[in-house]
Amino acid sequence: MFSLPLRDDARLRPLETWHAAEFAVHLDRAREHIRPWVGQGFVTDDVDGARGTLRRYAERQAADGARLYGIWLDGTLVGGVMFTAFDAASGSCEVGCWLEPAAEGHGLVTEACGALLDWALTERGLHRAEWHCRADNERSSAVAKRLGMTLEGVRRQSWPFGGTRHDKQVWAVLAPEWRASRRCREE
Ligand SMILES: CC(C)(COP(=O)(O)OP(=O)(O)OC[C@H]1O[C@@H](n2cnc3c(N)ncnc32)[C@H](O)[C@@H]1OP(=O)(O)O)[C@@H](O)C(=O)NCCC(=O)NCCS
Repeated sequence: MFSLPLRDDARLRPLETWHAAEFAVHLDRAREHIRPWVGQGFVTDDVDGARGTLRRYAERQAADGARLYGIWLDGTLVGGVMFTAFDAASGSCEVGCWLEPAAEGHGLVTEACGALLDWALTERGLHRAEWHCRADNERSSAVAKRLGMTLEGVRRQSWPFGGTRHDKQVWAVLAPEWRASRRCREE
């Protein structure tokens, strides 16, 4: 299977239905770490649940919609990035991510999201990419900031979790901003 190197020891690859067993084992390591911060449908408990998530993404990708990619570090699936929404007709998408605890702090997600944004905002010609996170998810908003996104606003109390309605931040980058920041980095 083709893959994109993120670093010498890390690769980004499509995460597909046939990875269900590997994805389920990874979720065993990641589940409690990601549960407060991601969509609850993503936090499944067994191989069937994991397969269901992968199949849902595969079906949406077949319709040129959402897409899912895994990050393998030293050959182990440690997290991933995704288009949680992708709409070529309106020219906008939303990017998301997750990691198991041991893979945090290495820049893997920032690098992987950069690859997704390059593809969406240059090759596919989309105009706008969003990032949604709980307002108290500091590591997630730090990724949005590192990607050069702008905090556009807060949807108040729109993220129910654990009996509380949390605020949600909406960050975004526009295609000309992304291309300009890429040019600066190359110079
Ligand atoms: C959000 C999440 C993916 C961020 O992970 P992360 O490791 O902080 O993000 P990155 O992979 O981009 O790595 C950045 C970290 O690596 C460090 N780093 C090391 N080398 C780096 C490099 N070459 N480039 C960028 N950062 C690098 C950065 O300094 C930063 O660490 P710091 O925050 O301790 O300063 C992770 O915290 C997570 O999975 N949380 C739970 C699920 C979640 O919140 N998902 C998002 C829902 S909106």
